This record gives sequence, structure tokens and C-alpha cells, in this order.
Amino acid sequence: MKQKVSIVLILLGLAALLFALKSGFFKSSDDGYVNQKLPEVVDYNFHIKPILSDNCYTCHGPDANKRKAGLRLDLEQAALSELPENPGKYAVVAGRPGNSLLYRHVISDDPKLLMPPPDSQLALNSYEKKLLKKWIEQGAKFEKHWA
Ligand code: HEC
Repeated sequence: MKQKVSIVLILLGLAALLFALKSGFFKSSDDGYVNQKLPEVVDYNFHIKPILSDNCYTCHGPDANKRKAGLRLDLEQAALSELPENPGKYAVVAGRPGNSLLYRHVISDDPKLLMPPPDSQLALNSYEKKLLKKWIEQGAKFEKHWA
């Protein structure tokens, strides 16, 4: 009898723990980048290209053999064109992060849509996501801003 009670208690404890984990109880405030200030003007070469090159080019870069979904993000023209495997949709729509699949996929909650894919061991932090959003909002310029 006593044994049964402790098993029930253990199970309850585990359930509570799972619930706490799921509701983010143990997570510190995001990833430490939330409060980092965004630059006034987001610059492609300085801010954006390093993010894309570190996290996206392996599958969306110059190497045609490794390219996924036919999508290149290293060339302005390709990134701004209609997606080869997704007619009517675009990776980058200047001024409209909500219509830019590049942004939609990096903020997706769905592991099947999330970019970079979770199994690639790559991930963007919240600051990098915000940079991408602001860059698109500011017109997704691929060239350097000259002050
Ligand atoms: C490890 C390989 C890999 C990496 C790294 C990667 N992707 Fe992808 N990406 C894929 C695959 C595979 C697909 C196709 C998924 C599908 O069709 O189900 C895809 C699809 C996409 C699409 C949708 C294309 C379409 O036709 O709808 C976008 C946008 C995208 N990726 C953006 C990114 C961005 C931005 C990054 C970097 C932040 C990135 N990806 C990093 C493998 C990758």
C-alpha cells in the first residue's frame, strides 16, 4: 500500500516537472540577446551576410550539389525572385517580413518549417532574427549602405 502511494507521488512529481519544463518555467529570459539594441540602419554586408553565410549557405548557397529547394540566398537576384519550388512565394519581399518566407521560416514554431532545420545543429538567436526582420523592413538592400 505504502509503495503504491509513493509511486503515485513520483508520477505526480514527474507530471509537474514536465509541465514546468513545457511552460518554460526553467528557461532564463530567452537567450540573452533579447535586450541587445538593434542598429539604426541594418547593413547587409556587416549584419546580414554573416548570419546567412553561417546558417543558410550550406543548403542555400553557391554549392549546387548541396542546394535545397533550389533556393540560393547568397545572390540578391535569386533571393528576391519567385521561389523555384514554391510558385507565387518569395524568400525576401523588400519591406514585408510577413511575406518573406526567409523570415517566416526562421521564426516558425513548427520544427518541420523552422530554418535552419533543427537537425542541422544550427540556430539563430533572437537578436539575429530581429536583425533579419529589420533588414527586410528597411528594404532588404543587398549592397553596402554608404553614410
Ligand atoms: C541543413 C540544410 C538547410 C539549412 C542550413 C537551411 N535550410 Fe532552408 N531549407 C532546407 C530544406 C531541405 C528546405 C526544403 C524544405 C521542404 O521543402 O520541406 C528548405 C526550405 C527553405 C525555404 C522555403 C523554400 C520554399 O521553396 O518554400 C526557405 C525560405 C528557407 N529554407 C530559408 C532558410 C534560411 C533563411 C536559412 C538560414 C537561416 C536556411 N533556410 C537554412 C534546408 C536547409
